[in-house]
Amino acid sequence: RKPVSLPRLMDMHQRGEKIVMLTAYDATFAAVADHAGVDCILVGDSLGMVCQGRHSTVGVSLEHMRYHTECVARGLRRVQGTTWIVADLPFGSYQQSKEQALASAVTLMEAGAHMVKLEGGGWTAPVVQFLTERGIPVCAHLGLTPQTVHALGGFRVQGRDAQTAQALRSHAHALADAGARLMVLEMVPAALAATLTQELPDCATIGIGAGAATAGQVLVLHDMLGMNLGKMPRFVHNFMAGQDSIAGAMRAYVQAVKQGQFPVDAEHAWA
Ligand code: KIV
Ligand code: NA
Repeated sequence: RKPVSLPRLMDMHQRGEKIVMLTAYDATFAAVADHAGVDCILVGDSLGMVCQGRHSTVGVSLEHMRYHTECVARGLRRVQGTTWIVADLPFGSYQQSKEQALASAVTLMEAGAHMVKLEGGGWTAPVVQFLTERGIPVCAHLGLTPQTVHALGGFRVQGRDAQTAQALRSHAHALADAGARLMVLEMVPAALAATLTQELPDCATIGIGAGAATAGQVLVLHDMLGMNLGKMPRFVHNFMAGQDSIAGAMRAYVQAVKQGQFPVDAEHAWA
């Protein structure tokens, strides 16, 4: 398979082929995900929870992210992988200034990322523009933004009332206008995610707990393998069920997303 590129991701969005994203934090899982046909690997700061045992992503540092991004990139190089690598800018590494965001993004790009992801709307649009104008592809992240869990008051569905839905919608448009090419929508009502997917032809929405109509889907690796230290979120499906290997579980996930069999709105999403 040809390396996944930004034009290819945009083409998939425009043709309606679902984009499959999965998190990975090390070389071997990244290589297996690549072989299973995952389009994008997210080196998520969820590693703070699943690898480091934290209760949130707030304590993850840029150095942690650099290290895991390098591990993933090295694993993909070993197998001549073709997967697009997105790396999370951690809490505190982009809030201070555009210059700080650029320096942090450069660290992750030098470690092997193809794109960086940052959370939030409003104040983030000028930051996204600053990065994209300088040749750094950016993935936005709206809805439940785990780095601000303490301000949000918990891990709960976002954008349910008309006012927050409208704010989320205007943030999404501003981020797409600023040059964001992917946009994670986490725990937002399925109808709102569907609307945004239609309204943003140049920015592919990637849902997690956001219904089936988004341009793509993402899950945390450990969740989809049925491993969780806490409570399994409602939007997760255990893809190990009926499989006898992790490679098989990843192939099942890729196939279910590509064929529109996962997620199921009534089961995995919110109205
Ligand atoms: O860190 C992460 O894994 C994420 C996904 C849940 C979107 O940001
Ligand atoms: Na994250």
